[in-house]
Amino acid sequence: MHETGQKIATGTAPGKVILFGEHAVVYGRPAIAVPVAEVQARAEVRLGEPGQGVILDARDLGMRVRLSEAAPDDALAVIVSKTLAHLEIPPQPDLTITVESTVPIARGLGSGAAVSTAVVRSLARYFARHLTARGVSDLVYEAEKLYHGNPSGIDNTVIAFGKPVYFIRGRALEIFWVRAPFTLAIADTGIVSQTKDVVADVRRAYEENLGKYEYLFDQIGEIAALGRAAIETGNLTELGGLMNRNHALLQAVGVSCPELDRMAQAAMEGGALGAKLSGAGRGGNLVSLVTPESRGRVEMFLRMAGAKRVIITEVS
Ligand code: MEV
Repeated sequence: MHETGQKIATGTAPGKVILFGEHAVVYGRPAIAVPVAEVQARAEVRLGEPGQGVILDARDLGMRVRLSEAAPDDALAVIVSKTLAHLEIPPQPDLTITVESTVPIARGLGSGAAVSTAVVRSLARYFARHLTARGVSDLVYEAEKLYHGNPSGIDNTVIAFGKPVYFIRGRALEIFWVRAPFTLAIADTGIVSQTKDVVADVRRAYEENLGKYEYLFDQIGEIAALGRAAIETGNLTELGGLMNRNHALLQAVGVSCPELDRMAQAAMEGGALGAKLSGAGRGGNLVSLVTPESRGRVEMFLRMAGAKRVIITEVS
């Protein structure tokens, strides 16, 4: 018997920020990412009208579509189909899935992975099934391939696990100890950056100059390992210095832009311990390490340098 609209299940997921190792992580080097709870994706599943099939309603993404009519490369439709298949739900249940998200799109904060994670969790909950964080992450990776082409898997991993992660592609993830909680200011350039395009450009440059890029990725990988040690020992001065070095290496990789460089300089002038672009680059967000004393000033300097929004998050 159908009781339209009565049974409801929700799932949520945070955004993420990469602290060290973007791009190099695609080439097997370690990277560190942390969840950002101040932005969130939320999915709600409810029983639909008899015979309607699955309707996906994602207002923030400007989309309302019937699953049976979705394009094959529609990442949201793919994650729903894969999750239903994984949960062994008979085809075309009558469901309406509503998706909302405050994770800014195409800014390096993991909006695609956050939305997919929220959808997977809401469906699992609706059908009263338990999925492990690893199970959620593996499903979300399938949709990430459509968003990003050749994703390392770091976004789905940090978002599904909801903890700071030390990530190496193809290896079991390592969760590590944050000795002293620290605060990040995440500043939005307002420039949309498509990860898929930037990753493809880096691939082309890499293929044209293997020696240079292997060297840069090695250096970035070493910084990620040192960054982990700095977090585990609570050495925030060292952590900030490593962020600056990582930003310089990302400039050499070719993924920074004048707006990110200007904001990085402003953050340092405001008293940040370190600053670097985060995510694919060429727009998106800059992440700065701030102290309780410098936080307000850094935020002001970032806004003066063009930041459209600044999110403050604590890593613990
Ligand atoms: C995207 O959040 C991070 C990149 O390293 C791409 C990836 O890891 O798949 C740029």
